[in-house]
Amino acid sequence: MAHETDAEDAGEPRESKLAFRDWHFSVDQEGIGWAIFDREGQSANALGTRPLQELGEIIDWAEEGARRRTMCGLVILSGKEKGFIVGADINEFESFESEAQVIDRLRLVLSLFDRIERLPIPVVAGIHGVCVGGGFELVLACHYRIATRDEGTRVGFPEVKLGIFPGWHGTARSIRQAGPVSAMQAMLTGSMISATRARAMGFVDELVASRGALRWAARKAVLKKRKSKPAGLAQQLLTRWPARALLAKRMRDETKKKAREAHYPAPFRLIDLFEQHGGDLDALKAAETRYFAPLLISEQSRNLRRVFKLSELLKAQAPKDLKWKPLRVHVIGAGTMGADIAGWCVASGMEVTLQDLSAEVIDKGIKAQGKLFARKFKTKAQRAAAKARLIADPTGAGASRADVIIEAIVERLDIKQKLFADLETRIKPGAVLATNTSSLEIEAIAAPLKDPGRLIGIHFFNPVAQMPLVEVVRGAQSHEEDVTKGAAFITAIGKFPLVAKSVPGFLVNRILAPYMMQAMARLEKGEEKEKIDEAARTFGMPMGPIELADAVGLDVCAHVGRILGLSPEGSLLQRLVEAGKLGKKTGEGFYVWKDGRAEKAEKSYAAADLEKLGRELVEPIISEAERALDEGVVASADLVDAGVVFGTGFAPFRGGPLHYKASEQAVAAAPEQRNAAE
Ligand code: NAI
Repeated sequence: MAHETDAEDAGEPRESKLAFRDWHFSVDQEGIGWAIFDREGQSANALGTRPLQELGEIIDWAEEGARRRTMCGLVILSGKEKGFIVGADINEFESFESEAQVIDRLRLVLSLFDRIERLPIPVVAGIHGVCVGGGFELVLACHYRIATRDEGTRVGFPEVKLGIFPGWHGTARSIRQAGPVSAMQAMLTGSMISATRARAMGFVDELVASRGALRWAARKAVLKKRKSKPAGLAQQLLTRWPARALLAKRMRDETKKKAREAHYPAPFRLIDLFEQHGGDLDALKAAETRYFAPLLISEQSRNLRRVFKLSELLKAQAPKDLKWKPLRVHVIGAGTMGADIAGWCVASGMEVTLQDLSAEVIDKGIKAQGKLFARKFKTKAQRAAAKARLIADPTGAGASRADVIIEAIVERLDIKQKLFADLETRIKPGAVLATNTSSLEIEAIAAPLKDPGRLIGIHFFNPVAQMPLVEVVRGAQSHEEDVTKGAAFITAIGKFPLVAKSVPGFLVNRILAPYMMQAMARLEKGEEKEKIDEAARTFGMPMGPIELADAVGLDVCAHVGRILGLSPEGSLLQRLVEAGKLGKKTGEGFYVWKDGRAEKAEKSYAAADLEKLGRELVEPIISEAERALDEGVVASADLVDAGVVFGTGFAPFRGGPLHYKASEQAVAAAPEQRNAAE
């Protein structure tokens, strides 16, 4: 419970203050209430039970203040330096087992937000930093929204990524503010929206330059009784019939291209909700809860929330309090991997020197990063600054200044050994020395070093820009401090590190290779490649194994297969490699490729067949994951699942191979338990 503090005795200006744990609340001499969200003991503000209860008490106070005319407005701000509100507290979702429980809980929050909206005094939100999910829904219940133009200020609805959609009346309020096209797109894609775009879309009413200017702008908005305007008439007409039906159809068609309804039902339910009730915002609010509750307790949403937590677990492998901050990177080898690793590090703000045997190769590697910079940076100045941070370094002088040195040269033990023996004499103390090898032993590469413990593996996947996971490989002698720094470096460039033991294939290739080889073996035995690929996608893989092999390159697959002893002599894979048919990059492999796409015969298969085959196809992933766990390749079952989901794209809504197997066993055991109980 809050209590009033004696501000006057403390010699402060005459203000009323309420003491809370997650909010600071005070009413100033002008009668403006300042509610500052600063969740106790947490680096980010999540709207869990206690902060919502405390907000409820603040609203009690504001209602009373408005009635007695002692308050003329309420401003909601964040006390955190960088973030506003990251959303609802998803840890609290886990306790819900029935729709009724979800609905009960929603009712409390919905009535709180309705009370905010109904307050007779202006309620202004001042947004600096990330304001997403439930946090965005809270500010949409306010009367006026001001945001800073800061790069880090973003709004959005990431709920679909967790298998749900906004359930605190964000559906109705976002459509009211931005119209159905922009609002539904924001909710269906889950993308983050910059402050400037949010202003153009109608989600935000006013922009200010910095955090410091927010208070002043909010005060002015309260005193001038500013009120946000809803979307214009043209937008409102789109919520009427038949425009709404046409819009819903278009959205459904677009969504189907990206996701299957059986795997990801949330966006489809959101479109149904809009189609059925989007013409009347009160009806939409009333129906939102009914559509939302079953999703929250669904298996898919539970698993997607699990995957979100797995990503947090991966990041947690890098200690937050590490004093070391990597700023300069030296990359050796400007081929397929090295150039893209260099480009990614630059795009993450680092300065990078790039070395290769010839200046032409380096130039080519640098030029190839133009596309990434164009995607990552909006302004010319930012792109120019990025280019200036990527420095051609044919002599390798940058190695002695770098915090991290990554080798990505040809996969030959003798050449790598020679390179590292020389590097060891030139790098600065405390710098991380790493190899991107995918098949050589870290211990063998490090053998000629005076201190072999200095070398670790930092294994990126191809294509670097798209793959979220990077394995940080601990050789038998690697110093623990360097492994930790390696993980910290990977989080600093916005990827997920997975600390793995130095075994052939590390974790990801070791698990992926048997799956792909088994699929190729089935193909050789006469199963159609289109059927194999469709069955894997039916299970939830992003791409079928045969198409994936072609995309990765059949030479690379054969190489990984050889290391793991999985590539039988004379196999179809080997014959294709010998014929120079390496897949997508040569225009033909298992498939013929045109304009970057595999040409597939149009065929349809019985759903039950695809389901059965899909399950059989992923069996090698599951059994290899179990073996890798037994051998301690990574530290826990959750890390195995995290590595497989983020390293191979293993159906995220299934929660990872080990979790999936356990759920399957639980389902199979359930009738037996029931029988035993009877
Ligand atoms: P690549 O053949 O495309 O590039 C290697 C580059 O290293 C070439 O530009 C070459 O001129 C340069 N180079 C060779 N010896 C050098 C030396 N002594 N000093 C400086 N530069 C030298 O090879 P790629 O595919 O980029 O592979 C590089 C490393 O990354 C290998 O260890 C490979 O196992 C690993 N890797 C490759 C992946 C892939 O999908 N290509 C995925 C993950 C790891």
